Amino acid sequence: MVIIQGGMGVGISNWRLAQTVSALGQLGVVSGTALDQVLARRLQMGDPGGHMRRALDAFPVRDLADGIYERYYIPDGKSRREAFPTVPMPTATPSAEWQALVMVANFVEVFLAREGHTNPVGINFLEKIQTPHLPSIYGAMLAGVDYVLMGAGIPMKIPGVLDRFARHEPATYPLTVSGGDPVLLSFDPREFVGDGLAPLTRPKFLAIIASDVLALTLARRANGAVDGFIVEGPTAGGHNAPPRGALQVNDRGEPIYGPRDVVNLEKLKALGLPFWLAGGAGTADRVREALAAGAAGVQVGTAFAMCAESGLRDDLRQTLLAQVRDGAVDVVTNAVASPTGFPFKVATVADSLSEAGVLAARPRICDLGYLREAYRDDDGTVGFRCPSEPVNVYVAKGGDRVETTGRACICNALLATVGMPQMRAGKIEEPPIVTMGDDLSGVGRFLRPGATDYTAADVIASLTAGL
Ligand SMILES: Cc1cc2nc3c(=O)[nH]c(=O)nc-3n(C[C@H](O)[C@H](O)[C@H](O)COP(=O)(O)O)c2cc1C
Repeated sequence: MVIIQGGMGVGISNWRLAQTVSALGQLGVVSGTALDQVLARRLQMGDPGGHMRRALDAFPVRDLADGIYERYYIPDGKSRREAFPTVPMPTATPSAEWQALVMVANFVEVFLAREGHTNPVGINFLEKIQTPHLPSIYGAMLAGVDYVLMGAGIPMKIPGVLDRFARHEPATYPLTVSGGDPVLLSFDPREFVGDGLAPLTRPKFLAIIASDVLALTLARRANGAVDGFIVEGPTAGGHNAPPRGALQVNDRGEPIYGPRDVVNLEKLKALGLPFWLAGGAGTADRVREALAAGAAGVQVGTAFAMCAESGLRDDLRQTLLAQVRDGAVDVVTNAVASPTGFPFKVATVADSLSEAGVLAARPRICDLGYLREAYRDDDGTVGFRCPSEPVNVYVAKGGDRVETTGRACICNALLATVGMPQMRAGKIEEPPIVTMGDDLSGVGRFLRPGATDYTAADVIASLTAGL
């Protein structure tokens, strides 16, 4: 496949977008981020269309799937003013209930993306969000996922997990712990699905990288096969790799990238593995250039995030499309907003966290916890902290106050961006945050004359024209 539709969390590249792209013969990729919340909230919203129920019915262990349905499903959906009932937060010693929810949620998303066609489907994870990795990957594999794509970290130990889960064997993953040794997370499939399932297909593993040195390290030292690379440049939507060396920013506070940040494609080619170029690659010219440079194709995000099948809340999408038509798009590479510490691209949208006033007005609450960092306490126990949580709480956990400045709770905000905002005190809705790449200003090229919207098929037709 020449085009990979990039994984976009939370819930932007949902099963519907990925299914559409894969059915059209390119690689559709669902986001695997926070799918436990996404499944629970879809059920709490009454499961419009019955898609969750249909996918749950296909899960190999019916009791497990039924238990989740009964726990979270609200007939006709919760009222808008009601809060979403909570889901347990990820920890180093997760309950069986949470692991089952994560596993089943990943199964559901991949199952639905694979319906109605026989083409490959991928799932995307961020390495930094480590606690859900094992049940997520196993759940996606149970549904027959063909590709696992992972960036935002160094996924050295993921390929081996894929090998073990293909045989339904238990696997471990080292959770990074600040100020101490890693803690081994473990997951034994047989505790959830029993014995007797046929071996699974081992998905191909594509690592998302921004450095040929990292690609080389992964190819040589990962604990199993790396099957290819996505080379992502700093114009891409979502999180970006930080620039090499000391951070320098321009007058908008955006990180400045230099020649050292450019990936050496010749060195990458020497590894002999396929690679796709990402970041502003959504035009037929860029596709041709990528192929001429030896790439297998491109990975495209922003163009798909803005199409009709995307999970992006429709009013936000329409606002952005109007900005595109008016030439009024503004995308900022925010060096501090994301608690990960990675630069994060943020589109300027009214009433979202791109506005300083909206960010300042939001009380600091951390109740989702995906981006929390594990740390070793003085007494040796492992705790979790996030620089977006209340400052005094973060500092009491040994966090540096400086780290808290300008941080946004992107866990809550990104769920709001796909129409699943938590409600506070029955009246305040969590504000959204929209991440888009620099390519946002150019997506008008997919609009047919007189049209105000476009589809994934329009993007694919435009990118593959003349191939
Ligand atoms: C809304 C949005 C969310 C994204 N979320 C993720 C993500 O969760 N994981 C990831 O690896 N990349 C993420 N990305 C990056 C895309 O997968 C893709 O690599 C990138 O968008 C390509 O550059 P482009 O935006 O210029 O097309 C995201 C991009 C966008 C636009």
